[in-house]
Amino acid sequence: MFTGLLKKHADKKRGKMKITDFYDYKKPGRKISMITVYDYSMARLVENSNIDCLLVGDSAAMTMHGFDSTIHATEEMMLFHVAAVKRAVKTKVIIADMPFLSFRKSPEAAVETAGNLARAGADAIKLENVDGHEEAVKKIIESGIPVMGHLGLTPQYIKALGGYKIQGKDEKTAEKIIKDAKILEKLGCFSIVLECIPGALAQKITDAVNIATIGIGAGSHTDGQVLVLQDALGLYENPPSFAKKYIEGGELIKKAFNDFNTEVKEGLLPENKNDNNKKSQKMAVCSKK
Ligand code: KIV
Repeated sequence: MFTGLLKKHADKKRGKMKITDFYDYKKPGRKISMITVYDYSMARLVENSNIDCLLVGDSAAMTMHGFDSTIHATEEMMLFHVAAVKRAVKTKVIIADMPFLSFRKSPEAAVETAGNLARAGADAIKLENVDGHEEAVKKIIESGIPVMGHLGLTPQYIKALGGYKIQGKDEKTAEKIIKDAKILEKLGCFSIVLECIPGALAQKITDAVNIATIGIGAGSHTDGQVLVLQDALGLYENPPSFAKKYIEGGELIKKAFNDFNTEVKEGLLPENKNDNNKKSQKMAVCSKK
């Protein structure tokens, strides 16, 4: 029903998107697209796409560093990735994850880390859950750094959750997630990621708060969707079942590697058009004349 409206918004040439623009996404017919990105070359591609905003996720620990969970992301790691992404991005909002435990020590320590991420190029930070770090969320927001919440399956809590499974399936846990979403809104968060919860619960939360919800594995009734870049591009053999693969990137890249290898082995490289040596010989001959 809203396809025309959505297209109009997507086609509209925008200046730099602002955090305050997120409130507009509660309007009918508007949806936010967000993708994770961790490095300069991919950030350049996202910058030149219609995607609305970028998340330098702590999933970098897994996607870029090969760890088995996000608890291995450190402040140093996040700063390194945010700075690389920032060098490529001029027109999109960059949100950066606060790494494991960085918002649990004290509100002051949390503000310090959030400030470092902002100085590295983040327009906003994201942090998981809310119980026990309400004061940290409040202080970061009061310091002028916008905060995105993250509820449902919160990967930094994976050991306590007992694995990557859907959250909020029973009434009690569903009610708790709704309550936490309202607390995050009250604290001043501008948006909330809802990860791996039933679609009906995501819809209930989306209706209950006036800030934008962005879903991943949470059905279609959220104000936007986020994907991990490696899942969207098909760079992993076993992506989560809820993650849509838009291209078989892994297969395409593997084919390019193998084509290169074959051409080297068969002496087909460089081709004339790539042969600098031939070009410079020609130039030397020309300059002698
Ligand atoms: O770090 C990340 O990639 C995330 C997304 C799953 C939302 O937090």
